[in-house]
Amino acid sequence: FEVKWEAAQAEKNGFAHFMLKEIHEQPRALRDTLKGRLAGDDSAVVLKELEIDDQKLRSLRKIFITACGTAYHAGLVGKYVIEQLARVPVEVDIASEFRYRQPLIDEDTLVIVISQSGETADTLAALREARRLGAPVLAVTNVVDSSIAREADHVLYTWAGPEIAVASTKAYTTQLVAMYLIALHLAAVRGTITLEERRAIIKELKQLDSRAELILGNGHLIKDLARIYGRAEDVFFIGRGLDHAVALEGSLKLKEISYIHAEAYAAGELKHGTLALIEKGVPVVALATQKNLFEKTLSNIKEVKARDATVIALAMEGQKELEKVADHVLYIPPTNPVLAPVLAVIPLQLLAYQMAVVRGCDVDQPRNLAKSVTVE
Ligand code: G6P
Repeated sequence: FEVKWEAAQAEKNGFAHFMLKEIHEQPRALRDTLKGRLAGDDSAVVLKELEIDDQKLRSLRKIFITACGTAYHAGLVGKYVIEQLARVPVEVDIASEFRYRQPLIDEDTLVIVISQSGETADTLAALREARRLGAPVLAVTNVVDSSIAREADHVLYTWAGPEIAVASTKAYTTQLVAMYLIALHLAAVRGTITLEERRAIIKELKQLDSRAELILGNGHLIKDLARIYGRAEDVFFIGRGLDHAVALEGSLKLKEISYIHAEAYAAGELKHGTLALIEKGVPVVALATQKNLFEKTLSNIKEVKARDATVIALAMEGQKELEKVADHVLYIPPTNPVLAPVLAVIPLQLLAYQMAVVRGCDVDQPRNLAKSVTVE
C-alpha cells in the first residue's frame, strides 16, 4: 500500500505559510498513516510490510530508538508507549550521541531509527553503526526510497506527504502513529495486552483525525494567546510522563521559528533548579493530559503560580479544576492518555506558529536551520 502525492500538495493552497498548511493537513496525514494497517474488526495492527517474523519479535531483549530533532522527540513518546504496552526496555538516544558512544547492542536488540527525510547524516550513520554491531534496523521514515529506507533492514513509512516547512509538524504526529502501531504489534505478538485493551486503543487511534480537526477548528483561541504573549523573552514548558515528551517538542517548535528562549522540564524536576527562573509574568505552558499524573502536575502548576508565573494549561476536556489555578486553559478532546501526545502537540504547534507570525519571523525558513541536515 502506497499513498501517491499530487504536485498541488507542494503548493500552499491558500495558507499563509507551509507550516500552517502542514499543521492543518494532520487529520489527513493521520488517516493515511493508519490506512491498510488495521484489521477490519479493529482487533489488530497489520504490519506485514515490516517483514520481521514473530519469533524474532518475541526474542528481543531491548529496543533502541535513535533520531535527531523532532524525530527524537517522537522517539521519546515511542519509549513510553512501547515499554507500557509491550513491556520491552527501550532506550532513546540522539543519533549524534548514539553513533559515538559504543552502544550496547547485539542481534537481540531492535534498533528503530526515525527520520522524516531519511537523509539526516547522523541518523544514517547511527543506522550503519547499529547494523555493523549486528542489530536489525527498522526505519520509520516519510520519504520512499530515501537513503535510510534503502539501508535499513525493515521500513515502516509514515504517510505525512511532502513536508516543506523546516519546523516539522505532520511528520511528527505520523511518527507518533508509527510508534503506536509498532507498540501494539509488539504487544500482540508478545502477549502483553489483552484483545480488549488492543481494541480499545485501536478504536481511539481511528478517531484521532476527527479530534485533531476539532482542535484545528479552535485555532483562533491560540491566535489570541500569541497576541498577548508574543513578546515574551522566555517561555517554560512543563509536564510529566508523556506530557514531558510533548513539552520538549512544544519548546523546540517555539525556539525554532520564533527565536524565543524556551525550555521544557519534567514538572517534578522544577524545584531542583528551574523554579529559580520563574518570576512574575513568565509564561509557563503546563501540560496536564495524563490522568494518573494530573494531581501531581496540578501541584506543580500551583508552585509556579505562587511565583507569579502566567500559566497556560493544556488538558483533556473535563479538567475544570485547572480553570481555578491557570490563567488560560486549552482543552483537547478526551482520548486514551497514551494517544494524547498526538492531540496535545497541535495547540503547541499553533502557538509557536502564531508567536512567530506576531514577531514577524520567517516561519518556513528560520535562520540558521535546514530542513534536512546531510552534513555532520
Ligand atoms: C532538522 C530539521 C528538523 C528535524 C531534524 C531531523 O534539524 O530542521 O525539523 O526534526 O532535522 O530530521 P529528519 O529528516 O531526520 O527527521
